[in-house]
Amino acid sequence: MSQTPTPHIAAKAGDFAKTVLMPGDPLRAKYIAETFLEDATLVNNVRGVQGYTGMYKGKRVSVMASGMGMPSIGIYSYELFHFYDVDNIIRIGTAGAMHADLKIRDVVLGMGACTDSRFAAQYQLSGTFAPIASFELLSKAVAAVEAMGNVDYKVGNLLSSDVFYNDNAQATAAWQKMGVLAVEMEAAALYMNAARCGKNALAICTISDSLVTGEVTTSEERQSSFSDMVKIALEIA
Ligand code: HPA
Repeated sequence: MSQTPTPHIAAKAGDFAKTVLMPGDPLRAKYIAETFLEDATLVNNVRGVQGYTGMYKGKRVSVMASGMGMPSIGIYSYELFHFYDVDNIIRIGTAGAMHADLKIRDVVLGMGACTDSRFAAQYQLSGTFAPIASFELLSKAVAAVEAMGNVDYKVGNLLSSDVFYNDNAQATAAWQKMGVLAVEMEAAALYMNAARCGKNALAICTISDSLVTGEVTTSEERQSSFSDMVKIALEIA
């Protein structure tokens, strides 16, 4: 069911691998392609949203940026799943810790993604949809992070929020009471697109800041913890 190129991706059918890693930032996509992939070629650059396909340990893998927020990842993941025959999308991004037990640089594997967005309204369900990760990708990610041995991680609920600068000072506390681990801005839409299309998705997040302690990461810390997350994603790709 090819309908390519799409309004937002200039690649041809077959240009993407079955698994696409999605960082938020286009420069991160370029960095991953140049640092971790062999024979990487640029397959998209519409709006500077760089997409590359190359090889990792003999596997064909793609990486393309999602941009920030659910409308943006909603568009790219929809087009990859529906028009480029992509089967797996693994988001690799940062998140703010909402749980006191999470430290800067820890990894959160998003088993579920709560949201304050109305993305699910399009499905006209008579209740609340629970966006969840692919169990297969999630269990492979747990095995990969365990094998690395030196990465502190948790598996649980993310909050995908439409709002980075929230005017409601109580919003975080309410989600914390429900045991939500960390806040980011993309996973729920990715999980819903995967569910609707019968495909697989997982969000792997590194804690870049803490809403509990107010701590933030330095750029060096961000770089090394970013590499851990990329390695987990590439192992399960
Ligand atoms: N809020 C939303 N998204 C984020 C945050 C945050 O505090 N940190 C990293 N991504």
